[in-house]
Amino acid sequence: MRKKLIVANWKMNFTVPEALKYLAAFRREMQVGYPECEIVICPPFTTLFAFDEAIEGTPLKLGAQNMHWEETGAFTGEISPQFLKDLNVNYVLLGHSERRHIFGETDIMVNKKLSMALQQKLNPIVCVGETDAEHKEGKTFEVVERQIKKALDGQMRSDLENLSWAYEPVWAIGTGKNATPEQAQEVSQWMRRLIAKIFDTPTSEKMRILYGGSVSDEKARGFLDQPDIDGLLVGGASLDPKKFAGIILATETTQ
Ligand code: PGA
Repeated sequence: MRKKLIVANWKMNFTVPEALKYLAAFRREMQVGYPECEIVICPPFTTLFAFDEAIEGTPLKLGAQNMHWEETGAFTGEISPQFLKDLNVNYVLLGHSERRHIFGETDIMVNKKLSMALQQKLNPIVCVGETDAEHKEGKTFEVVERQIKKALDGQMRSDLENLSWAYEPVWAIGTGKNATPEQAQEVSQWMRRLIAKIFDTPTSEKMRILYGGSVSDEKARGFLDQPDIDGLLVGGASLDPKKFAGIILATETTQ
């Protein structure tokens, strides 16, 4: 049984004081008790240090929104996986569509980042998904297949235990237009079969596949009820402690 994973991607939002204020409000919302799922918050890099201290004693885990594929060196402005480990970061998002489309991250870069994250045991969450134009041209499976195959190229099966995926159709991110739970299930099931073909069924059955793209507290349950959707990657709604708590609590009522 795959444990549900709910991830907040704060993107470029929240200073340290704002993040601490958020946490206080979030903890009040969660006084009802935390369900049996894993909860990861990915704040901006500059907030990680203070947030790591602040979440002590809560079941929250820390994630990063990106990282570089080398450990050290002349890479001005980049963040090493070592820096993340130093701050107790447990998870890292890789290949988010904003990284791919705004900052020109390629499949090869995502592949190198994935190798490093797996080597460092940083629980990578690799984001894949088609753009609006690709969606309209019926290329969803073709694009997602390319992204998955390129990310996995040369990775060792024995390292993949802690790898998760997020299917995030680009046309659904921050637009309020999400995929239906059935569409997201169809792609997630297909992704699992593809991974089974590349590696094997036990490996694919262990991997968690999340859905992301305009997830709200009202819609969370519809996605979580799908057999191949093991969690959610939440952007906009995760910035509101009440809405994010609602999404987490929706895991309680799903199988
Ligand atoms: P959204 O973002 O929930 O605001 O659509 C999701 C994401 O970018 O991970």
